[in-house]
Amino acid sequence: MKQEIAQLGASILRCKAEKIIDFNSPELSLLADNMRVTLEESGGVGLAAPQIFQSFCILIVASKPTARYPDAPEMKPVLLINPEFEILSEIIEKDWEGCLSIPSIRALVPRYEAILVDYQDIKGNKHQLELKGFVARVFQHEYDHLQGLVYLDRVENNRDIISETEFFKLIAV
Ligand code: NI
Repeated sequence: MKQEIAQLGASILRCKAEKIIDFNSPELSLLADNMRVTLEESGGVGLAAPQIFQSFCILIVASKPTARYPDAPEMKPVLLINPEFEILSEIIEKDWEGCLSIPSIRALVPRYEAILVDYQDIKGNKHQLELKGFVARVFQHEYDHLQGLVYLDRVENNRDIISETEFFKLIAV
């Protein structure tokens, strides 16, 4: 079921999320389903569990072109539990981000261009995933939510923050 999305100022967005220890539980399946549905119906490209008021280390990366992100690459959605990552290159790129918890705003955020992610699936099986470019960006954005960070914390200059209206004018060029 679609859940309410925590908005900037909600204290849960500033908490460090707990790791999942108990796999194969009905609660975990329900949380994963609620995250999928909430993300799908919100037109986002990623979601972290704290954004639906569940302070656990779960996130979804689901890049595809949407009204919010017309230029996003298409990928199969992936649910990552207890994710960790290492950088594969020192290259840092700045690009636009938005967040369902911070409506009407976009900003330029520096992120690592290529990363290697370790995570568990819903059964607790371990996986590794190499991510690059926009998808690596989405992951790092969602990973920050698990640390109690939001993307505005990483903006280098207030002038890199713009309204969504201006953002859509910019990418329409
Ligand atoms: Ni976000």
